[in-house]
Amino acid sequence: MIDSKKENLSPLDSASMDDEEIVIEQNLRPSSLDEYVGQTAVKENLKIVMEAAKKRKERIEHLLFYGPPGLGKTTLAFIVAKEMGVNIKVTSGPAIERAGDLASLLTNLAEGDVLFVDEIHRLNKVVEEVLYPAMEDYVLDIVLGKGPGARSIRMDLPKFTLIGATTRIGLISSPLRDRFGATYRLEYYTAEELKKIISRSAKILNAPIEDSASMELAKRSRFTPRIANRLLKRVRDFAQVHGHDTITLDVVNEALKLLEVDNLGLDKNDRRILDALVNKFSGGPVGLSTLAAATGEEEDTITDVHEPFLIRTGLLSRTPKGRQATEAAYKHLGLTPPAAQQKTLL
Ligand SMILES: Nc1ncnc2c1ncn2[C@@H]1O[C@H](COP(=O)(O)OP(=O)(O)O)[C@@H](O)[C@H]1O
Ligand SMILES: [Mg+2]
Repeated sequence: MIDSKKENLSPLDSASMDDEEIVIEQNLRPSSLDEYVGQTAVKENLKIVMEAAKKRKERIEHLLFYGPPGLGKTTLAFIVAKEMGVNIKVTSGPAIERAGDLASLLTNLAEGDVLFVDEIHRLNKVVEEVLYPAMEDYVLDIVLGKGPGARSIRMDLPKFTLIGATTRIGLISSPLRDRFGATYRLEYYTAEELKKIISRSAKILNAPIEDSASMELAKRSRFTPRIANRLLKRVRDFAQVHGHDTITLDVVNEALKLLEVDNLGLDKNDRRILDALVNKFSGGPVGLSTLAAATGEEEDTITDVHEPFLIRTGLLSRTPKGRQATEAAYKHLGLTPPAAQQKTLL
């Protein structure tokens, strides 16, 4: 029951993690910028922002991190708080339902603390309006009473830092975006970077892994640290069950075959989307809602999780008319691309 439910959930979504996975994810999380692999531009920039704030003995400005799930946004927020020596409170857009929820979060912060709001694009309008003066002037406008007798009082807040994270920068209103001092886009990781992450994680998990094996895992991890760690854990389990002390290239290949992760790192869901595009819609272009209906995936999951990866892999392209399969997609599915089909007909 639980398993079948998990299968339908995106492998990237933190909502699909069980307790054990959450604990492992926390253990593997780097706790300083030096341990944080890759994202060089973001790191350099953050170092300057933090140094400057420390020199001025001020809090750091509000920061916004965006990019696909699993690239290290939450991790960075924790690192920033740690390096600044302040506390971090964690919440998310959908969890702050009413203005009062936000008010109680904000009034409980200490001077300099970080409030981390994950999925900040999902804040509702009312809450967002309360957030503006809080971010800008560290004040909270509270309306007391209703109707003509209502009056508003202004409360001072501690000077906090808001760190927002989102997978959908396009859904953030411009007034909210403008109130962040800096916005950072996290990029997909290279295989070399992922290999470093995998080697580090393997040490923490006490799972010896050969170089060729960690490289292969890196190449098949959807350019994403969360996936790299997740696959490593599954491969380690596989190795243990089969009595291998060390994770070798063979072990990785066998385990990934079992997990239905293919040579480019596509999982079952990626392939289902590609397959629908090619076989049901003759390669597209097809609109998002049609594709979602045909595959039984959420539209958001397609745009946040699958599409950026498939585009990056060169298997899918986005045209003004919709999503289209590339020639490489046909080849990857073992089919003849339409262009080549036409040539043979002529
Ligand atoms: N730059 C990095 N270096 C090492 N590990 C990372 C890095 N970024 C992410 N991770 C790992 O990937 C996992 C997911 O990262 P997370 O910050 O939760 O992603 P996001 O919040 O963007 O979805 C973390 O547990 C961490 O172990
Ligand atoms: Mg996160």
